[in-house]
Amino acid sequence: MVTNAQVGLNFLSNEPPNLADTLIAFTRIVEDGKTTAAIITGLNALFNRKTPEMKPISIRETVEEILPLLRGRLLRSGVTVQDEVLLDLPLVNGGTIALQQVFINLLNNALDAVSMVDHDKLVVIRSSYKERMVSIAIEDSGVRPANYEKIFVPFYTTKAKGMGLGLPIAKSIIEAHGGTLSARATANAFGSIFEFKLPIWEKEKPI
Ligand SMILES: Nc1ncnc2c1ncn2[C@@H]1O[C@H](COP(=O)(O)OP(=O)(O)OP(=O)(O)O)[C@@H](O)[C@H]1O
Ligand SMILES: [Mg+2]
Repeated sequence: MVTNAQVGLNFLSNEPPNLADTLIAFTRIVEDGKTTAAIITGLNALFNRKTPEMKPISIRETVEEILPLLRGRLLRSGVTVQDEVLLDLPLVNGGTIALQQVFINLLNNALDAVSMVDHDKLVVIRSSYKERMVSIAIEDSGVRPANYEKIFVPFYTTKAKGMGLGLPIAKSIIEAHGGTLSARATANAFGSIFEFKLPIWEKEKPI
């Protein structure tokens, strides 16, 4: 962010000012600022385990809000995301931003994993519900981690620019909602399934 700000200032101090490149530098600052804000929201969720606002949330709408945010990444990378979330999925009890964060972290991981393979790059989001719990599964066709437990340890990362916080943050948010998050290999030769379960919203008995 600081580098882009300095670059932007240099472009502005040119004679005449280089407005096109200044615009690019400042756009990067805005993007970095948003990423930083998302990380801070996630860190808050990780260390301050109470979830602020709990209300009825539609997972369908959450996915519809999140996918456009990833569109740039999807177009660049040639990944297909199949949204198979049920139209009549029951509402869950949760915080909007916290649950958006979970999707962003899991989908970014899935996109990173499929970006490393040559075969079809596919991510599927499925849903189901049973016994007052909604289940969301994000399945990718990417490379698999060597160990499905280690990846939840804070600061464990295999990525050059990774912080190793996406999964611990997602797990912490889901558990603060009274749910669970787990990961396993698919039945195919490639890919993983990250599945989380959340209690269905109940009018009479919010958790
Ligand atoms: N869908 C996935 N497929 C394969 N490996 C994965 C997947 N999701 C996570 N991992 C592995 O788990 C590690 C930890 O994931 P986590 O999201 O916590 O951190 P990160 O993605 O490395 O960094 P960031 O803090 O930016 O999220 C990753 O570095 C990767 O090795
Ligand atoms: Mg991640």
